[in-house]
Amino acid sequence: MKPFHTIIEPFRIKSVEPLRFTHRGEREAALSAAGWNVFRLHADDVLIDLLTDSGTGAMSSAQWGALMQGDESYAGSRSFYRFRDVVQELTGFKHIIPTHQGRAAERILFHSILKPGQVVPNNNHFDTTRANIEVEEAEARDLVIPEGRVPAALHPFKGNMDLEALARTLAADGDRIPLVMVTVTNNSGGGQPVSMENLRGVRALCDRYKKPFFLDACRFAENAYFVKLRAPGWEKKTPKEIAKEMFALADGCTMSAKKDGLANIGGFLALNDDAWAESCRNLLILTEGFLTYGGLAGYDLEAIARGLEEVVEEPYLKYRIRSTEYLGEKLSEADVPIIRPAGGHAVYIDARALLPHIPPLQYPGIALVNALYVEGGVRGVEIGTVMFGLHPDGTETASAMDLVRLAIPRRVYTQSHIDYVAEVVLAVARKKSELKGYRITGAPKVLRHFTATFEPLR
Ligand code: F0G
Repeated sequence: MKPFHTIIEPFRIKSVEPLRFTHRGEREAALSAAGWNVFRLHADDVLIDLLTDSGTGAMSSAQWGALMQGDESYAGSRSFYRFRDVVQELTGFKHIIPTHQGRAAERILFHSILKPGQVVPNNNHFDTTRANIEVEEAEARDLVIPEGRVPAALHPFKGNMDLEALARTLAADGDRIPLVMVTVTNNSGGGQPVSMENLRGVRALCDRYKKPFFLDACRFAENAYFVKLRAPGWEKKTPKEIAKEMFALADGCTMSAKKDGLANIGGFLALNDDAWAESCRNLLILTEGFLTYGGLAGYDLEAIARGLEEVVEEPYLKYRIRSTEYLGEKLSEADVPIIRPAGGHAVYIDARALLPHIPPLQYPGIALVNALYVEGGVRGVEIGTVMFGLHPDGTETASAMDLVRLAIPRRVYTQSHIDYVAEVVLAVARKKSELKGYRITGAPKVLRHFTATFEPLR
C-alpha cells in the first residue's frame, strides 16, 4: 500500500479550551502596560502561546485518569514508587529524587557539589542552569561545536559538544571541574540534538579524567528520535531503546518533567553516586519536601510516570518532530532566517539576521517578539542579549546569537494554528524595516529577561 503523505496529530480531542481573540489596539495597550515584556502579559491576552513548551502540554486521558490514583501519603506514597520505577527503568540510575521542576534539581545538585571558582562544561547551559551555577560563584562554560553557534550552518547534530574543546578544558582546568554536563536537546542552541557518538566521546573523556557525566535530560525523547532519524545504524531501534542507551552513558541527570515528562509540573534528579545523593536528599528535605514527594503532589508523580511512558511512543514523536519541522519549512521557504534544521521543540528565528538595522544592545529579539504579539497575538520568547548579555560583574555584551524562539507546546495546537503562526511571522517579516529597538527601563540582577521592563526607541 502506498503510504499516505499527511502526518496527522496522533490523538483526537476530548476537551477544548476556548481562545480569546483580540484586536491590534488591545494588544498594543496590553503590551505597553506590561512594560513591553511579553512575560508580563496576562495570558488571556495571548492568542497562540509559544512562549515555552514547558508545562504547557496537554495531558492524555490516561494521565488525567492516573491523577485519581494519586496517593497523597506524606511518606512512602504508592505514587512515588510508581514514579521511581518508571524513572529507574528508563534511566537506570540508582537514586531517584523527585523535585518540583527542573531548576530545583539543578539547584539541589549544584548547591550540594559546587564550590566557588569551579567550572561546569556543557554544550550550552540553559538560563536557569547557568544561573544556578553562577549563584554558587562557579563558571558555566559553553562548549558546543562551532556549527552550533552559526544559525544557518546545517549539521544533523548541531547540539554536539566540541570534544576537542572539552579535552582542552579538562586538561587545563580538570582540578576545578566537578562534573561535565550535556543538554539534550540543546535548548539554548536551537533545540538541536546530540548524537550518540558524541555522547560516547564525552563519556570517554570523562572516564579519562575521572569526572562524572550528567545529562540535562529535559528533552531526552526528542533527542532519541532525532538519533533514530539521522544517525545510520539507529533506525531500527525504538526511541525508548535509544533513550536508555543515552542514559546508560551518564552517571546522572537533571530533568524537567514539564517537557518530555508530558506533565504540567515536576522534575527529578537521578544519580548513581551515594555520597552526592545523600547530600542532595538533605537539601531536598530542607527546601522541597520529603524524599518521596519532593515538592509534588502524589497525583503529579502519577501524571509524570504515565507521561514518561507516552513520550517515547513512536507515533507521538513522529508527529512532534514533524510538526515543528513543518513550521520551520514554512518560514525558510519565505526566506525568514531560522536556525536550521528546525529544533525538536521549537523554531528559532535569527532576529539579528532578520533585523540587521537593530544592534544587539537594542535587543532585536525583543523587537521581533513584540512585533509578533502586536501583529497576531502570537507570543514567542527572546533567547539572546536580554537573556544572556548581562554578566555577574554587571557588564553587558551582545550574546552569541539573538534568537526568537517559537516553542510548540506538546499536543496542544493543530496544524491550522501553526499555519496561522507562519502567516503572522511572514506579515512581520514583510515590514521588518519598520521595527525599532528597545531600551531597558528596569531589571533585576539575575534572570532579568523574566521581569525587565522596556521602552521602544524612536
Ligand atoms: N534545562 C533546560 C534545557 C531547560 O530548557 C529548562 C527549562 C530547564 C533546564 C529548567 O527546567 O523550567 O522545569 O525549572 N526550560 C523552559 C523553557 C523554561 O522555556 O525552555 P524547569
